[in-house]
Amino acid sequence: MAKKVLITRIIPSVAQELLTKAGFDVTVWEGNTPMTQTQLIEQAKSVDALLSLGSNKLDKHFFNECSHLEVIAQFAVGFDNIDVKEATRKGIPVGNTPIVLNEATADVAFGLMIAVSRKMFYLHKTIERGEWKQFEPLKNLGIQLTGKTLGIFGMGRIGMVMAQRCRGAYNMNIIYYNRTRNEEAEKKLGCTYVSFDELLQQSDVLSVHSVLSDETRGIFNKSAFSKMKPSAIFINTSRGGVHHEGDLIEALNNCTIWGAGLDVTNPEPMDANNPLLNMPNAAVLPHIGSATVEARNGMARLAAENIIEFYKSGTMPYCINPSVLGKK
Ligand code: DGY
Repeated sequence: MAKKVLITRIIPSVAQELLTKAGFDVTVWEGNTPMTQTQLIEQAKSVDALLSLGSNKLDKHFFNECSHLEVIAQFAVGFDNIDVKEATRKGIPVGNTPIVLNEATADVAFGLMIAVSRKMFYLHKTIERGEWKQFEPLKNLGIQLTGKTLGIFGMGRIGMVMAQRCRGAYNMNIIYYNRTRNEEAEKKLGCTYVSFDELLQQSDVLSVHSVLSDETRGIFNKSAFSKMKPSAIFINTSRGGVHHEGDLIEALNNCTIWGAGLDVTNPEPMDANNPLLNMPNAAVLPHIGSATVEARNGMARLAAENIIEFYKSGTMPYCINPSVLGKK
């Protein structure tokens, strides 16, 4: 009998096409909003495999209810919505979709860096308000990026693309902090490994590309911002939980740092009345890092391939908990 797969939201059709072609019985949740937890558990109970999104909460309760699942493929590189320890305990392999969104996400970090350095989002709003009256020699001044120091927090694949863009466009000096040293980034891009405190103290632009974990949750807080340069720009395109929003707003208001660009917030979606949206030194986007046609198609394809390959060979192109492969 055909294995049943549930796709928890409408995603690029290539996922369903590949799975159907490979002989799976595919159901797509067609709601305009994510499933509730009750709907998710109810629907997942009747399938063998799940193609999930970051908006699905796959927590301990979920895994207790759905321990029958044979495989989970997440339509995202990030997986902080999944209790991976619990999945592993239940012997369920979990796949993700790295690489295909590197360029798209780094572009958003790069774009936010430029937008913040020249106050673009805010100045656009001043025109809408009818405030553009004349040329202002001493107003609306930004910061030039050429030759400045870029600090990367989390030198993985996306961090490396951001570093490459900044080196090429602005000949920036690149420093980074990571759990482990990234020799490829050091050799290929001439990046220098520094301590977390050095990263804070030396960066003119500090761009976050780490995962959200117990180690990184809220790491950019009052104490971290207080160590940064008053001229520094903070960029976060990874997960909103990595920075403490109240502390960031205070740091921007007090000119502890110069500006911030965010593609991720905590919570998401951000409230329309959030003060960050009206600050001259902030730019916020609605989590669009991977939102290009190419990246989203690539993510759909990879998620489907993770499931197909698992049933074909017992392995997955991208598995987060490979220790469980071959055990269930
Ligand atoms: C990812 O893939 O993790 C992006 O943030 C989209 O969720």
